[in-house]
Amino acid sequence: MAERTVERRPLVAGNWKMNLDHVEAIHLVQALALHLRAIEHGRLDVSIHPPFTDLRSVEGVIGADDLPITLGAQHASSYAAGAFTGEVSVAMLRRLGVQLVLVGHSERRQLFAMDDDAVAATTRAVLEGGLTPVICVGETQEQRDRGQMAEVLTAQVLAALEGVPAADSDRIIVAYEPIWAIGTGVAATEEDAQEACRLIRQVLAGARGEVADRIRILYGGSAKPENAGDLVTQADVDGLLVGGASLEAESFAAIVGATAACYGQ
Ligand code: 13P
Repeated sequence: MAERTVERRPLVAGNWKMNLDHVEAIHLVQALALHLRAIEHGRLDVSIHPPFTDLRSVEGVIGADDLPITLGAQHASSYAAGAFTGEVSVAMLRRLGVQLVLVGHSERRQLFAMDDDAVAATTRAVLEGGLTPVICVGETQEQRDRGQMAEVLTAQVLAALEGVPAADSDRIIVAYEPIWAIGTGVAATEEDAQEACRLIRQVLAGARGEVADRIRILYGGSAKPENAGDLVTQADVDGLLVGGASLEAESFAAIVGATAACYGQ
């Protein structure tokens, strides 16, 4: 197994997708806080990404108890303000205490026609607004079967970086989420996850130089307590983007715990 040569602070991120209203959200965060209290996780970041309508309530719970949880969003508009019905701006999110924004999740790409240009524009908007984009990339089963994984990931990463100032290169996070592993219960093997994350780091290095060593790259797709440890011990896997298993306090906390254990806690 490749050795981890650079220390990067791991991140375990929970993407709630379109689940839980704001009342349910409050309950989940309170339960999560209880579970996290039993885990030494000071060496890693934990974020949750609830639906927009939950953010204010979740911010209140995190703030009131000063919980060690970073607030994230699932999407943002690439526009600053104006006649964009249904959109939510980066500034609005920042005002709510949001620090991380998922950009170009495969569900946005596939179901809401978010193309590479929109992913790049949103990445830039998030950075300009002072927040951190978590750029999601990943191949379909068909692309993998045709041997196009490297080509697809390379194109998606390079497209997302289009127009991102060099000085902001180390402010991004990338999440490798193979589409065939999302919501299927079949995660990538740790070898496959490592291979893809290593490739993404090489693409980042080619485009942005040695800063690539400091950029966090997450794996996402059917991550759960049972496979979290094996995935995050891989040299280029710096954490996890968790969907279904983040909707229950116990399983999400167990993933945080398994990750913390791999980082010497
Ligand atoms: P699952 O963990 O439910 O497979 O979802 C992964 C995902 O899409 C996280 O963004």
